[in-house]
Amino acid sequence: MTTATKLSFVHRFEPAAEQKRPPLLLLHGTGGDENDLIDLGRLVAPGAALLSPRGKVLEGGMPRFFRRLAEGVFDEADVKRRASELADFVNEAREEYSLPAPIALGFSNGANIAAATLLLRPDALAGAVLLRAMVLLSEAPEADLNGKPVLILSGAMDPIVPTANAAHLARQLQHAGANVEHRTLPASHGLSQADVTLTRDFLAKQAR
Ligand code: MLT
Repeated sequence: MTTATKLSFVHRFEPAAEQKRPPLLLLHGTGGDENDLIDLGRLVAPGAALLSPRGKVLEGGMPRFFRRLAEGVFDEADVKRRASELADFVNEAREEYSLPAPIALGFSNGANIAAATLLLRPDALAGAVLLRAMVLLSEAPEADLNGKPVLILSGAMDPIVPTANAAHLARQLQHAGANVEHRTLPASHGLSQADVTLTRDFLAKQAR
């Protein structure tokens, strides 16, 4: 598998070996790229198609999925534009690779754009796993998530995402009708073995 430059995001795509599994949309953290979450995707959803774009916004040379003004201070207009751009890419990739709607698996900045995309363009995603996500949109848009499955995994010792902020995000998504499971792990902002196990179990339940 190599990095592809066709379509509107530089990305990697790995076709499914197991058709029963929904595809995963892998969304890396700040400073990552399309290669970062491929191994995690293979581990938590063996055989699933993997679609992994590279964020288009550069912060000091580090790819991200939207602009921020400072740590934890987001440019909401840019978040809206970028979420829409990402949803358009997902639709393009679905056509190009003949895919059903993917489940997003995002870490940190990638989890944040996944949550925003769910709220702003619900049709683009079948669900999401949000690892260390936080609230981006001060006012959540009216969205109908119609029971889409969402797993949020937060870290009790996360210095970037206060636990109350993650709980607020869970409420925003629940209010929009998502079927949200929110767990707070004894972890920091980095991922732990529990993240892998809980994500794998959650994704196994989504296989048809
Ligand atoms: C963000 O900017 O999305 C969050 O602060 C997470 C990060 O990338 O550090």
